Amino acid sequence: MSTQRVAIVTGAARGIGKATALRLSADGHKVAVLDLDESACAPVVEEIKAAGGEAIAVGCDVSNSEQVAAAVARVNDELGAPVILVNNAGIIRDNLIFKMTEGDWDAVMNVHLKGAFNMTKACQAFMTQEKFGRIVNLSSTSALGNRGQANYSTAKAGLQGFTKTMAIELGKFGVTSNAIAPGFIQTEMTAATAERVGVPFDDFIKGAAAQIPVTRVGQPEDIANTVSFYCDERSGFVSGQVIYVAGGPKD
Ligand SMILES: NC(=O)c1ccc[n+]([C@@H]2O[C@H](COP(=O)([O-])OP(=O)(O)OC[C@H]3O[C@@H](n4cnc5c(N)ncnc54)[C@H](O)[C@@H]3O)[C@@H](O)[C@H]2O)c1
Repeated sequence: MSTQRVAIVTGAARGIGKATALRLSADGHKVAVLDLDESACAPVVEEIKAAGGEAIAVGCDVSNSEQVAAAVARVNDELGAPVILVNNAGIIRDNLIFKMTEGDWDAVMNVHLKGAFNMTKACQAFMTQEKFGRIVNLSSTSALGNRGQANYSTAKAGLQGFTKTMAIELGKFGVTSNAIAPGFIQTEMTAATAERVGVPFDDFIKGAAAQIPVTRVGQPEDIANTVSFYCDERSGFVSGQVIYVAGGPKD
């Protein structure tokens, strides 16, 4: 087994974040399950503990730098230096540009971009000290452009620039920084999109699968597996990369 590390997964109460927290625990790491509401993280922590792992629930809004500083300090106190960071927390506020409000724009930028900045800034201090770090940012195939997602696609493209810049700045400290750009993953986020466009989720999934080369939609575990690869000790020469995990070259 590789060295046990301390990981923080943001937005880990459900969906891709939850699957990632479970996977990093199965890989042997201690995991801080971080989400807006601490009590919503508790079932994930229980699942990890039941499987023999170590985890804590942390309530934190990643877009709030004071909450982030307190949360990361708590993880350091209770689990140890956080040197694996998965910036997964995300929201959607979809609308065509003529209907998109300033609030829709700011909310998405704050969670995805400022959230990743706040978390990375707080954790890099531990990574550089430990001379080891793994940063994984959740981008999206929407970074290439997607109707109704001017805010989200901009944030997800921005995260790719952030990923590459962190790879350049932090590489000499043994820190890698990489991104994953998922295609359609079956979670509450895509269920909300189906509801917004008025299509039953099952039909929405079938329609999406028909457009995907491997003829199925993605599951949270597909993304967790890619996070696991990036976080592996043996992946230290992989940095500044974006892997499109979309069942084909793009969504
Ligand atoms: N589902 C997909 O098809 C898909 C595709 C591409 C990218 N992604 C990205 O993957 C990530 C996870 O997506 P998901 O489908 O699991 O979404 P989800 O909506 O199921 O889960 C997102 C989690 O993030 C948390 N969160 C939101 N704002 C937060 C904040 N300010 N601070 C802390 N936590 C916050 C939510 O409470 C929620 O638990 C997101 O960044 C999303 O944009 C998802």
